[in-house]
Formats: sequence, C-alpha cells, structure tokens
Amino acid sequence: MQSTATDMIVVNTIAAVREAVAKFRASGSTIGFVPTMGALHAGHISLVKWSRREADVTVMSIFVNPLQFGPNEDLSRYPRPVENDEAMAREAGVDILFRPEVKEMYPSEREITVTAAAVAELWEGSSRPGHFDGVLTVVAKLFNIVQPDVAIFGRKDLQQAVLVQAMVHDLDMPLKVIVAPIVRERDGLALSSRNRYLSETDRKAALSLNRALKEVRRAFARGERNTTALENAGLAVLEHETPVKTDYFAVVNGSTLMRERMATEKSAAIVAVHLGSTRLIDNRFLGGDDED
Ligand code: PAJ
Repeated sequence: MQSTATDMIVVNTIAAVREAVAKFRASGSTIGFVPTMGALHAGHISLVKWSRREADVTVMSIFVNPLQFGPNEDLSRYPRPVENDEAMAREAGVDILFRPEVKEMYPSEREITVTAAAVAELWEGSSRPGHFDGVLTVVAKLFNIVQPDVAIFGRKDLQQAVLVQAMVHDLDMPLKVIVAPIVRERDGLALSSRNRYLSETDRKAALSLNRALKEVRRAFARGERNTTALENAGLAVLEHETPVKTDYFAVVNGSTLMRERMATEKSAAIVAVHLGSTRLIDNRFLGGDDED
C-alpha cells in the first residue's frame, strides 16, 4: 500500500511512531526506514526513493544525535531547518516523519551503549573518538523503535554504513540494510548538510576532494595497484589547494576499511579534510562504474 505524498504523519514520540507503524503493518505493509539528522538535501531524498522502491511505507527520522558529536564539534550550530525539512520529506513521499526531542530519545543517564568494532577506531573514528559508538547506539534505538524491514544508508558515509551492516549482522537484527550511491552536485561535490557552511572560496577548494578521488581511479585504471602510490596520486591533488587541510587520504578495502598493500577492484579511496571550520568527507570505489 503506497500512500500519497500529502498525508505524511508527523510524530515526535516513540509511542506515536510505534502506533503509526503498527497500523500500516497490520494492513500487511512492509516498512522502509531512512534515518537522518535533517538539513535535508537531494542525497537524503535519494534514500527515500530507494526506500519507496523496497518497501510499501517509508519512515524517516530527523534527530540531531548529541551522542555522536565530540565536545568541540558542530552540535549546537548543526543546521535545523525544520519547516523546509518537513516540506521536503512530504514532497519526497515519506509516510511517517519521526522527529523526537533529545529528552525523548535520552530521558535519563544511559547505562548501555553499543560499542563499535575495531574498525571504528580508524579514519573517522581516529579523528572523532566515540563518534561511531554514538551513531550505532542511536541507530540501534531507532531500529528498535521503528522495526523496519529495510533501512537505507548512503555510501557517502562509507565507514558508518560498514559499521551499521556489521552491527545488524553481529547482533542478529532482523532487517536488511541497503547502501545507496553518493549523490553529487553537477560539479562533483558530494552533497552534505555541512556544505552550507562553506564560503565561496572554500566551496571551490572543496572540489579537490572529488578531483583527488578521480585521480586515484585514473591511476588504478592505468594499472597502478600499489596502495602508497595510489594515495600519493590523490594527495598531490589535495596539496594544490592551500585552504584544504587533509585529515586522511587512504586507499582501503571497501568492505573492511582496512588498508592493504595492494589495491583491488573492491578498494575504495576515502578522504576527510578540514576547510576553514568545516570538515568534509568523500569516497570513491576504484573499480566498477563509480564514475560520474
Ligand atoms: P546524516 O548526515 O543526516 O545522513 C543521513 C543519511 O544520508 C546517511 O545514511 C548518509 O550517508 C546519507 N547521505 C548524506 N549525504 C549523502 C549523499 N550526498 N548521497 C547519498 N547519501 C547521502 O548519517 C547520519 O545523518 C547520522 O549519522 C545517522 C545515521 C542519522 C545517525 O544519527
């Protein structure tokens, strides 16, 4: 049963979202779930499209999860364009929008947290200690609240997607996880809620992330397999952009996120940089048709 775009149900309590989902489920509908932190853009909307293809009913959550922000990160200034988000979700065909307050999700001191595997200490995790424990804890809670048949995550956050898949597998959570492709601007910049922080100059410099990733793909296509050589090809591009402060640029196994001596079709180049006070990430697989 696919409902129309206009009758989106907006709820902010766990009880209400459970009730709304239960009604759909009682009529035999399958449930798709798209967790977000809002400030919606075409990347988020592409996940809704995937969900609508995979399930009868789509639930989206918008929750800026304090657990996954470090003390010096952008929690307080994270954009919260509430009305615009609601309009975009409705327009995209979301059936149930779940928008809880912090006290609804975390009413008291927590005694239990999900702890991520060792891979969470690499890359994003080494720059953002505790980040993935915060992500997995909220995602586990959201899965328990919504109980979806399928949940859609973006490959934009490759390490997050890998860890969510690992959690679902290791903790036997009864749902399917789909990882959807990265949506980019026409000029190649990966869409991100944080792009709106960028000045005009920084926005131009940010294009070097995609350029660097493509350069690695080109080197791979020419036959280069040595991980260090591939990384150096990407780093050389980033070094040209003075405002870009590279946090990491690595060629890793796309499923395990571990660095290996030689790259394969399944390797991915991953990058994180600081541009002014904004942190941006991006990635591309080296093989296949990950070229746009
Ligand atoms: P947020 O950054 O809002 O992203 C929500 C989802 O949108 C994630 O799965 C992310 O990978 C995906 N996404 C973001 N930009 C994208 C793009 N350009 N193309 C395709 N997908 C994109 O990720 C989070 O929120 C949070 O960590 C969350 C999972 C909601 C837990 O709090």
